[in-house]
Amino acid sequence: MIVAESIEKVRAQVAEWKRAGLRVGLVPTMGYLHEGHASLVRASVARCDRTVASVFVNPTQFGPGEDLEAYPRDFERDCALLEANGCDMVFHPSPETMYAPGFATYVEILSDMPKRLCGKTRPIHFRGVCTVVTKLFNIVTPDMAFFGQKDAQQLAIIRRMTRDLSMPVEIVGCPIVREPDGLAKSSRNAYLKGPERTAARVLSRAVALGQQRVREGERDASALLAAMKALIEAEPLARIDYVEAVDGVTMEPVTELTDGVLVAMAVYVGTARLLDNFTVGDNTPVCAQDASD
Ligand code: PAF
Repeated sequence: MIVAESIEKVRAQVAEWKRAGLRVGLVPTMGYLHEGHASLVRASVARCDRTVASVFVNPTQFGPGEDLEAYPRDFERDCALLEANGCDMVFHPSPETMYAPGFATYVEILSDMPKRLCGKTRPIHFRGVCTVVTKLFNIVTPDMAFFGQKDAQQLAIIRRMTRDLSMPVEIVGCPIVREPDGLAKSSRNAYLKGPERTAARVLSRAVALGQQRVREGERDASALLAAMKALIEAEPLARIDYVEAVDGVTMEPVTELTDGVLVAMAVYVGTARLLDNFTVGDNTPVCAQDASD
């Protein structure tokens, strides 16, 4: 696997691949990789001739007081995981490489979409995500780019940005990968200490409960959200940031649970702010256990 720290090295290698007529896939990451990232790499390897992953903890998507410095990092382990899953090149730039002194140009969606859900507590987050993903697209010029459905609002925003700016990249969303007990894989799971790890199961239990109620015929969003919130609130180590039902494309709140509605949550467990979600109409189970165990 090629390790590239400069934009020039990535461009030269991708140009060579493109001259040979090869299709290039990109898996953008912030590192501290897990099986969820590995599944994105495998999806790219299956659909593209060459796969590039980026490992970059992007400062512009962290607000003041957030976990930029604390964000876990282990580049050596990341390289081993990427290589084992068939990645051809990893782009690992420094912050100075990505953001030259005087950097002042951002990409931002000017609708309410990035202000909803995570945007309420992280007001500059999606501007930073759109900016760095645009830069990565400009550097790597991928044919396809792969993102996880766990960050459902991010995925919807990247789809919108790509469409609005006519970016020649196909965006592929990949299913949430979970621990055996249902907890969605996340680099931030590393923050969970002692009993918090068990408490964090409450997110996937709430997802399982929501899916079960929808299967049973619940169509009223507020009734569903109330049941899910009650389950989460019964866990003393958990604190809800939001639990909402929104249109899966626009992120506008909905009252009725029709197919394609995204039911999404952010919940603090200790210092970790964890995400989970499901889409109405998609009954992929979170784990073998049910919501009530
Ligand atoms: O999902 C992430 O890890 C990040 O938000 C991304 C897309 C790599 C941009 O920094």
